[in-house]
Amino acid sequence: MAFKIKVNGADHTADVDGDTPLLWVLRDVLGMTGTKFGCGMALCGACTVHMDGAPTRSCITSIDSVGSAEITTIEAIGGTPAGQKIQKSWLDLEVAQCGYCQSGQIMSASALLASNPRPSDADIDDAMSGNICRCGTYGRIREAIKQAAQANGKEG
Ligand code: FES
Ligand code: FES
Repeated sequence: MAFKIKVNGADHTADVDGDTPLLWVLRDVLGMTGTKFGCGMALCGACTVHMDGAPTRSCITSIDSVGSAEITTIEAIGGTPAGQKIQKSWLDLEVAQCGYCQSGQIMSASALLASNPRPSDADIDDAMSGNICRCGTYGRIREAIKQAAQANGKEG
């Protein structure tokens, strides 16, 4: 069946079964491989995208549940105000190690900053607790989110 979805501001059609995970549509049908497969069970966060701005595990989101929601992926998050600040901080603090988890980390961090411009440590822990990093970059992730939040403050 053909499903119409909106990804990064553009309309796409995917001719797949309704229970196909959004992650497979992004990677295998649309060729957007920045979103990663880790566990396939909503346990690691590597596959995080935004659905109408909310961080969403695309590995357990069936294509037939997406409807008219606007999907944003790592390929376009730098075009959003929060995503731009997060990516700058990530580069400034050299957050990534192997990098595998990082697109999911950036998507969760960007959603946090977009909804909460001045997150507390507890807010950061809450928002990021579902994103696993085998390289243990958690300290730098937290500092990068704080730096991005400070950038928010400077803009008033
Ligand atoms: S691949 Fe989706 S949460 Fe792990
Ligand atoms: S940077 Fe390697 S898993 Fe997170």
